[in-house]
Amino acid sequence: MNNKITKKKFLLEGKTKKIYSTENPYEIILHYKDNITTFDGLKKELLQDKGILNNEITTLIFKFLNSCGIKTHFIRKINNREQLCVKVDMIPLEFVVRNIISGSMSKRLGVKEGTHTKNNNTILEIFYKNDALNDPLINDHHAVFLGVISYEELNTINKIILNINNILKKYFLEKNIFLVDFKIEFGKNEKNQILLSDEISPDTCRFWDKKTMKKLDKDLFRIGVVSEEVVLDTYMEVLKRLNVG
Ligand code: TMP
Ligand code: ASP
Repeated sequence: MNNKITKKKFLLEGKTKKIYSTENPYEIILHYKDNITTFDGLKKELLQDKGILNNEITTLIFKFLNSCGIKTHFIRKINNREQLCVKVDMIPLEFVVRNIISGSMSKRLGVKEGTHTKNNNTILEIFYKNDALNDPLINDHHAVFLGVISYEELNTINKIILNINNILKKYFLEKNIFLVDFKIEFGKNEKNQILLSDEISPDTCRFWDKKTMKKLDKDLFRIGVVSEEVVLDTYMEVLKRLNVG
């Protein structure tokens, strides 16, 4: 395997990652930064080495999903902060998957945080990625109307999401973690195949400790009552658990 992948050109910078092209037009390098932001970027900090932790956590999760037959953009980890991934056209939608009610759904619908969905039903939500509109919650019809996806693709994605949720719920439970909710994104490769893309990390999920119900994710930063060190230690704790077993 050739490990000497070199960055060709800087392509894009988001809040927590940077993207570079490579010599191969079908592959990109994803670079994980230390930035952590919330409330549409109103609150932001640098958490030293968070990028290293999220790169490793996402690597473990995507490797596992790949091994379960989920088609993802992840090819391999290159170094501490970087992954080699398939170049995709991102679909500008955030798919939120809820097993236990928390966060914005709790507030929006006045449901107590920690309420379980009925009959283990999975709740799916779609948010339109648009900074100027503050990423509004939309439905399938809005997404198709906006021209960013077709009904057929939504059907395919919904099936993939339920599959991913079943795989990850079990995976995390084995690490004594409840997968409360998470956000995922998809892109399309040059053959127009839909691939799970972006990251899956404590930045993009709610993880609760199975025994204590302690939060093990970015909510600690959002709520803001603990130090940055505690946030980092918590991300490290998640990584430690993923590395066991
Ligand atoms: P929410 O309850 O704030 O809507 O968040 C649901 C899940 O999605 C939670 O695990 C955090 C994640 N999420 C992101 O990763 N990025 C985002 O921009 C938002 C709003 C949520
Ligand atoms: N990432 C989003 C933001 O920066 C929301 C969040 O995860 O809290 O606003």
